[in-house]
Amino acid sequence: MKNFADKYSEYKKKIDERLNTLLVLKEPKSLYDPVNYIISGGGKRIRPAILLFTCEAVGGNADEALDAGAAIEILHNFTLVHDDIMDNADTRRGNATVHKKWNVNTAILAGDNLIAIAYKSLLKTKSPVIEKIAGEFTDGVIEVCEGQSYDKDFENEPDVTIDKYLMMIQKKTAKLIEVSAVMGAIIGGGTDEQIENIRNFAVNSGLAFQIQDDLLDIIADEKEFGKKIGGDLIEGKKTYLLLKSLEVVNKKEDRERIEAIVKNSGIKENQEEEILRIKKIYEEYGIIESAKNEIEKFTEKAEHFIKDFPSEHKNMLKAFSQMLLERNF
Ligand code: IPE
Ligand code: IPE
Ligand code: MG
Ligand code: MG
Ligand code: MG
Repeated sequence: MKNFADKYSEYKKKIDERLNTLLVLKEPKSLYDPVNYIISGGGKRIRPAILLFTCEAVGGNADEALDAGAAIEILHNFTLVHDDIMDNADTRRGNATVHKKWNVNTAILAGDNLIAIAYKSLLKTKSPVIEKIAGEFTDGVIEVCEGQSYDKDFENEPDVTIDKYLMMIQKKTAKLIEVSAVMGAIIGGGTDEQIENIRNFAVNSGLAFQIQDDLLDIIADEKEFGKKIGGDLIEGKKTYLLLKSLEVVNKKEDRERIEAIVKNSGIKENQEEEILRIKKIYEEYGIIESAKNEIEKFTEKAEHFIKDFPSEHKNMLKAFSQMLLERNF
């Protein structure tokens, strides 16, 4: 039996090959250059990977799920291109973001085109329940938009709770991971019970994944992370870390620093200095540890839902959720 790392890289290779077939050079270049640039610019490919793992976990053939895998990865890349406009982000995966390399209009259109390419790939899936699969996928598109809307609204809301935050990240991030896993389980011919367990596994892994992303915004190495460190603080994002610090930071000077971010919807001046100061506050008050605990809590909860799967598949899915938790980028 193959180990997890071999299987993950085998899946990544297959997905990249499938994506390449969708990236034939086309005109106009002003549209397809940015489309090719984002798709071939790297990425962990975790959504198609979980889709292929869950397909096999219910006894299916992963090759039959490749079109759906490519589709979810393309959809994810659409969300990244538009997310970077919305978050004023200059770098992604160590490269210039699409709207920085080209311009905002180009990035909007590239994103629109990606949604259509995603559906085109999805609808190649041969399954008697393609309507059900397309329904899941479409719910994913709708919820990501809702989540992104809450994410932006929260930048200007002073009283966001951790519960509201969890609702927001369930939509903006966990949903696509859920949809990936569920589509894999449907294509693989899973029973309703298996599909629901896979869904709950993926939702909780997805929540852990976004809290980890919030954490990496502070503790990662910028080069390895491929995105700007402290970008969430600059934008005034209501991350897990910021919300937790509002609960526990009690020294006047430290508290004023955190509250200033909320009040100003981000950091306007001396950004680099301020990011380091906030990082220090996060360290001193145990906010980093608290985020790590929360990530572990959701990962454990996720793993509980797959306890009845055959051990070979359970181990693959567990290795997957552990890989998400241990990542540095
Ligand atoms: C980034 O997703 C957006 C989030 C939901 C945090 P990934 O971390 O999966 O990005 P890539 O595709 O690997 O670059
Ligand atoms: C991820 O949120 C959600 C989507 C991209 C839909 P972030 O804004 O935290 O993602 P990164 O950190 O830019 O990748
Ligand atoms: Mg965002
Ligand atoms: Mg972003
Ligand atoms: Mg982020």
